[in-house]
Amino acid sequence: MKQEMHVTNQRYRLGYHLMTKGGWMNDPNGFSYFKGYYHIFYQYYPYAAEWGPMHWGHARSTDLVHWETLPAALAPGDMESGCFSGSAVPHDGKLWLIYTGHHYIDPKDPEAFYEDQNLAYSEDGIHFTKYEGNPVLRVPKDNTKHFRDPKVWREGDTFYMVVGSQGADGCGRALLYRSPDLIDWTRCSVLAKSENEKTEGYMWECPDFFPLGDKYVLLMSPQGLEASGDDYRNLNQTGYLVGTLDEETHVLAHGKFVEIDRGHDFYATQTMETPDGRRVMMAWMAAWDSPMHEKEDGWAGALTIPRTLRLAGGKVYQSPIREMESLREKTLQDGAWEAGKAYALPRKAEICLRFDAAPAVLLTLTDGTHGLSLAWEAEKNRLVLTRKTKDGVRACTLSAAPHAVRAFLDQSSVEVFVNDGETTFTERIYFAGNVTLTAAAQEGAIYALEAETNTYGTDAAEEETK
Ligand code: FRU
Repeated sequence: MKQEMHVTNQRYRLGYHLMTKGGWMNDPNGFSYFKGYYHIFYQYYPYAAEWGPMHWGHARSTDLVHWETLPAALAPGDMESGCFSGSAVPHDGKLWLIYTGHHYIDPKDPEAFYEDQNLAYSEDGIHFTKYEGNPVLRVPKDNTKHFRDPKVWREGDTFYMVVGSQGADGCGRALLYRSPDLIDWTRCSVLAKSENEKTEGYMWECPDFFPLGDKYVLLMSPQGLEASGDDYRNLNQTGYLVGTLDEETHVLAHGKFVEIDRGHDFYATQTMETPDGRRVMMAWMAAWDSPMHEKEDGWAGALTIPRTLRLAGGKVYQSPIREMESLREKTLQDGAWEAGKAYALPRKAEICLRFDAAPAVLLTLTDGTHGLSLAWEAEKNRLVLTRKTKDGVRACTLSAAPHAVRAFLDQSSVEVFVNDGETTFTERIYFAGNVTLTAAAQEGAIYALEAETNTYGTDAAEEETK
């Protein structure tokens, strides 16, 4: 019997972010709402703090901030060597998972594989059964072996699926399919494709497609973009195309690819529409080239806080979901701010700062050794985040000088929202001591946040399992 990993050291454990109880996590999957609960699944390997044969980890929540970890929903083995990323949709009183079966052809060669799309279903939202007719969709002829990460949604009586693909010409693309029943799928179109591997990617992972404001957004994680100035500094990127959909051809006429988060640790987004109509996104709070020092402690990876998306001026803005405010336990500071003073922070904190005139250095967070700063280069309209690590700089331009910064600190992570979410930076940062904040702000608030919002495999789910 393989042993599940256990956490051996609490030093980097997060308070209000979703993590595994031990073992590895990557992409969020199956973000959905079913029978009174939000569900989130994730790429999971329970037996090491490293990527391995992929399972689907699972948690549910009634408010998107307190998560109850449930037993793994999918494990590889009988039908595939890995259950790769996918999505979930309620249908016929069941929660259906649509996932990629990753199949190794030669166990000695990780590059020899094929991928197809599969279903699993559950009536209670806890126990899942793989569909006996799997796979429901095989790789098309004009494709390479890269064919994964189905995102399914429903419009009236029709289900749609967007899948990440690499065309036979070696370019990344998003394929659109439709089905009356989740089982028989017909291809509608190549929704969008990369014109060039180096500027737009050789493979588009984790596509997601939805209306936002009066446009459509195709969110995805392209692989293979070459770094160019401040852009595309991570190994792979996550970003979006905004456009209009031709209802006849199902082709998206779109603008330029835009990175959705400018930090080091952000990849593989997934969104859902909440019952009250918000488009909410979560992402893996890491990247394939992130060091993930928590591996030494028996776990790896976490999901970002959920963020509400909106479209303004052709750009996607992100704000922390409003439920995050319910985690404020104590107001430590609120009102006039002393520029230059080092404010002591608790390790789980929310910070809201207002700047009347943007200073050269907006803020610095440090424990004396580890830290980051946010600076504004007015003459270049350039916002620069510097994390005190190798390759620590990430930067971008803004449409207006920074006037508001909201940041969430959680032990070993920081998520920064600038100018009401026009730009975000998501960072893992392995603080070792007490953290202080210095900011050249006019006004500011610091809230201590509720420390533990996750439970692991106890109470309600076990009751229901009996
Ligand atoms: C993205 C990704 C997906 C794949 C999964 C495997 O991070 O590579 O394309 O389904 O991770 O774990």
